[in-house]
Parts: sequence; structure tokens; C-alpha cells
Amino acid sequence: MKLTYLGHSAFEIETKGTKILIDPFLVRVPAYKPNNISDIFVTHGHGDHLGSAINISKNNNATITATFELANYCASYGAKTNDVALGGWINYKWGRVVLVPAIHGNSTPDGKYAGVPCGFVFEIEGKKIYYAGDTSLSSEMKVIGEIYKPDISILPIGGKYTMDIEHSIIASEWLGSNTIIPMHFDTFSAIAVDINDFISGINAIGAKPVVLNIMDEFNL
Ligand code: NI
Ligand code: MN
Repeated sequence: MKLTYLGHSAFEIETKGTKILIDPFLVRVPAYKPNNISDIFVTHGHGDHLGSAINISKNNNATITATFELANYCASYGAKTNDVALGGWINYKWGRVVLVPAIHGNSTPDGKYAGVPCGFVFEIEGKKIYYAGDTSLSSEMKVIGEIYKPDISILPIGGKYTMDIEHSIIASEWLGSNTIIPMHFDTFSAIAVDINDFISGINAIGAKPVVLNIMDEFNL
């Protein structure tokens, strides 16, 4: 399985001949052309997460998995959708996914109500990946650590709209993942960070910080 960082909070996961996208806001990767995408996961309706999900869905015949309200919004623009809710495991050909709570707002770019925001726990090829989405630090992360024991956690660290570095280190302790990948930082000045603070903080709790540059690939 291969994880590719597409900037901001966008990732591609390639597994067993298929590719999935998460929060495909792709303005940082103009040369990237989504192809062979089977599924798109969207945590919430803000423009920097919904991104070009609807067009990618149409061009790839890919299914957008999102909470009921956001999925219906995408369907109203012609996307193929799987409307779900925070709850149990959802099965796919390539693995399974559970939607977990995120503490954040949620509306569409044109101001429509979009239900609750979420994060995802993916189980693919026997590995568990927690993708937090936009969220504050939350005691839910203790439960996610206890129940799912994610091998890898992908956490926002930019502050202002999400957790900051200090809180992401606390979250990482609670989650217990060996590998922590940061996101949602340095895209614009309001979420600029000194990444060395993240690296030293994660090292200090005995986990491995993996800071991906745009289009970097990480094999797991
Ligand atoms: Ni947001
Ligand atoms: Mn955001």
C-alpha cells in the first residue's frame, strides 16, 4: 500500500490495483491527474476538503463516501455517493472504514448545512490508518487509540482551525500510533508552523514523525 501526499489535507492511497482519495483539495498539485480512483472520502464540506471531489467522482465513476447530508449535496451535483453516518464498519472491496467523530464546523462552499464532520479509520491490507480530518484535540482520540490501535495517525497540526502542534502531540500519545503524519499546515499563512517543533515533540513521545512534502510517497 502506498500513501501519496497531495498537499494540505489531501492524500491518495493506492492498494491492490485501485486508488482512493481523501479530502481532494488539489490546488497544490496542478500536475496531478486523478485516475483509476474507485472511492473518495470527504470529512466535511469546507472547500479545502471537498475540493474537486464532485468532478473527480464524475470523471472516474468514483464513489464519494460522506455523511448523509454532504453525500446528498454531492449527489445533487451528479456525483456517485455512498451516504453513511458515524457508526460501524463500512466494507469495500479493498478494506473497510469507520467514520469517527471530529470536532469542527460543517457547511458546503455555498453555505448549505452539511451534517456533522468526521474523521476516518481505514483498515487496508491489515493496517489501520486514522485520518483525523479537521478537528480539535478530543477525548475521542483516547477511545480511537483504545479500540482501533491505529498503526499510523494522520493529524492536523496548523492550529487556528484545527489542533496545533502542542495538541497534536497529546493526541499522538493517546492514539499510540508508531507513525504520525502531519497535515493541514503551511498551506496559507494562518496555519504556518515550525515543523521542527512537531518533529521534536513526536520524537520525545517515542513515535516516528513522517513529514511528507507534496507528492512524496510513503509505503506501508
Ligand atoms: Ni474545515
Ligand atoms: Mn480545513
